Amino acid sequence: MEIKEHYSLKEHHTFKIPVQARYFTEARTADEILELSRHPVFRSQEKLVLGSGSNVFFTKNFEGLVIKIAIPGIEITKRQDAYAIIRAGAGVNWQELVDWSLQQNFAGLENLSMIPGTVGASPIQNIGAYGIELKDVCEGLEAMDLESGEIREFTSEECRFGYRNSIFKNELRGRYAILAVSLKVSDLSAPGVTYRPTASYGDLKTKLESMDPKTLSPRLISETVSEIRRTKLPNSTLLGNAGSFFKNPVLAEERAKQLIREHPQVPWFKDSQGTKISAGWLIEQCGWKGKRVGNTGCYEKQALVIVNYGAATAKEILAFAYNVQSSVRETFGIELAPEVNII
Ligand code: FAD
Ligand code: EPU
Repeated sequence: MEIKEHYSLKEHHTFKIPVQARYFTEARTADEILELSRHPVFRSQEKLVLGSGSNVFFTKNFEGLVIKIAIPGIEITKRQDAYAIIRAGAGVNWQELVDWSLQQNFAGLENLSMIPGTVGASPIQNIGAYGIELKDVCEGLEAMDLESGEIREFTSEECRFGYRNSIFKNELRGRYAILAVSLKVSDLSAPGVTYRPTASYGDLKTKLESMDPKTLSPRLISETVSEIRRTKLPNSTLLGNAGSFFKNPVLAEERAKQLIREHPQVPWFKDSQGTKISAGWLIEQCGWKGKRVGNTGCYEKQALVIVNYGAATAKEILAFAYNVQSSVRETFGIELAPEVNII
């Protein structure tokens, strides 16, 4: 395996900040990672496992070894009654998997259409959109312990998925390289299976209201979600960003009731841990939506997304994000936590 030195990461992350990795390599198989683990660079350096870099914010050069996971392959490992289990390599592009699943006449991934990134990163923050999270479809995963080289299987429960959270963001942060993920989907080709769409999320519900429920299909949901996303989210090849910069805050019941009383227009949703408040709305109320400061700013159509207008430095983006966070704290007394992985 080739290890590159002083390697530009600009094309390997969607925020497009000009940073370098001291060492950089790409792994296409688990054996390649094992082989790499015997290399002196691997043994001596801090390591960062990277997918397609759509949820990372590099604040400086990475002075260690970046291992880009490029493990390919999608297969059906089980077909039983109304379900199929599909297993995809960590390096597979998420949308490629969604498209493949639609072609197979499987249902379950369509609400997660157009989420950038790789399959291997999807469990890290338990990707979610339009009413579905990875945890709803994840059957388990295989990962390599970067300390011992052992391959371990995790069940979905063992991943301890939560809102934009998993064990891989907590106790096991940086410890494992995810090699493959297994997903349980409905097999619409199996006899007697009917499609049950998840279509109650805000914008999606509004768009689908005028349609005959009998005509709903995974492909239609996928196309509708994609259409909504195109109108709201920036295309990162044109405008650097990492999606939502902050998480939606989850408030305890009393605090949420008080906020809703004081600001009846605030969008909120019930969550298993409390009440989720729209961070985009809070940021917009503080006057940041569409506001540009130097080379960075909040996206004009979605205030939760901080963008790079081309030449932004990490320092500029950090200072801007800090100001957004401060004004939400001062105006609403709410602390916004980053959703992106700050490196
Ligand atoms: P990276 O950014 O490369 O990595 C993210 C984290 O995962 C890092 O900590 C990295 O170390 C770790 N990691 C990556 N691969 C592996 C691996 N194989 N093994 C172990 N650790 C690994 N997210 C949502 O949940 N919902 C959305 O709707 C959504 N919309 C987005 C829209 C835009 C325009 C953008 C730019 C991002 C959006 N995101 C969204 C965030 C992003 O798409 C997801 O977090 C995605 O899973 C990141 O995949 P990646 O391969 O780019 O991961
Ligand atoms: N809103 C505003 N102003 C804004 C943005 C949003 O008032 O600038 C309001 C909207 O009007 C709507 C509500 O907030 O009533 C929710 O907005 P939206 O549906 O756009 O979703 P979100 O809560 O802002 C979350 C995820 C997105 C995901 C969408 C759809 C987080 C941090 N973000 O955004 O994920 O695509 O829901 O499910 O949970 C990401 O993680 O990178 C990401 C883009």
